[in-house]
Amino acid sequence: MPIEVKELTPGFAAEVSGVELNRPLPGDTFAAIQEASDRFAVLIFRGQPLDDDQQVAFSERFGRLEISMKLDQYHNRFRPEISDISNVSFEGTLLPADHKKVVFNTGNEYWHTDSSFKPVPANYSLLSGREVPPEGGDTEFADARAAYDTWPGNGKGITVDDLRELVCEHSIVYSRSVNTGDIFNENDKADWTPVRQSLIRTHPRSARKSLYTGSHCSHVIGWPTEEGRALIEALRQWTIQPRFIFRHRWRVNDLVIWDNRMVLHRGLPFDKSRYRRIMHRTTVAGDGSTAPQANEPTAAQAVSS
Ligand code: OGA
Ligand code: MN
Repeated sequence: MPIEVKELTPGFAAEVSGVELNRPLPGDTFAAIQEASDRFAVLIFRGQPLDDDQQVAFSERFGRLEISMKLDQYHNRFRPEISDISNVSFEGTLLPADHKKVVFNTGNEYWHTDSSFKPVPANYSLLSGREVPPEGGDTEFADARAAYDTWPGNGKGITVDDLRELVCEHSIVYSRSVNTGDIFNENDKADWTPVRQSLIRTHPRSARKSLYTGSHCSHVIGWPTEEGRALIEALRQWTIQPRFIFRHRWRVNDLVIWDNRMVLHRGLPFDKSRYRRIMHRTTVAGDGSTAPQANEPTAAQAVSS
């Protein structure tokens, strides 16, 4: 049966129905999903009960999966491909809001793009809503392609053409220190050294370009730090205008797929002292670096991407 693709916001988010993702999909059905994701950078599938093995099997259709970070795995309860974005313990109890894992996850509440702090950043993320709060905890997505297409320049002589040459430093140690406080120990910091990403990305399938400025994006290589940060902040603010945003209100068993090359996203806050929220993410690794790297990848960065 052909899938149905219903546009939710023009050219950006769509709901896909007529498919059950917990079974092996025929090649033409998967091809239709992949085509939909080239056009709509965010795809919503409702009513898709998935266990981790099924989620991994479907995700692998898009390509090789990343191994999640230690803090996302939390005592290795799940398969290593699963990022457990939750405020629930190994034993199933609500974690205190000041628990390191919960604090780490609040970093997701700032606009970002997954794994841009790895030498090979992610292509797609697939997020499965296993338990969702009755209020709060929506996820927002901003169309970084539309932002690129419309950016008028910074008013100080920098045009969109000038951006193409620019490479930025990305670091999760930097972004978390800004957004959640310094939560990494010295070993983590040695594992997660800064990497380089180009500021403009071109999608290999759709050829669309985007502004690649998530929270891990620290500064522009070769520019004075503050000047680079001001440019990045201006581009990020341009990207997150209401007209470019789609907001997803979660129901249990939703699966949402987004293309990290083309989309910024963030989780909205919820009352973590009252509500449980369990999301399982699989992350499809990218095809290569977006810019020449200054350093060899660390062992953690190498196994994680
Ligand atoms: C993620 C993420 C946001 C959310 O899983 O990569 O940023 O709403 N999640 O949980
Ligand atoms: Mn994320």
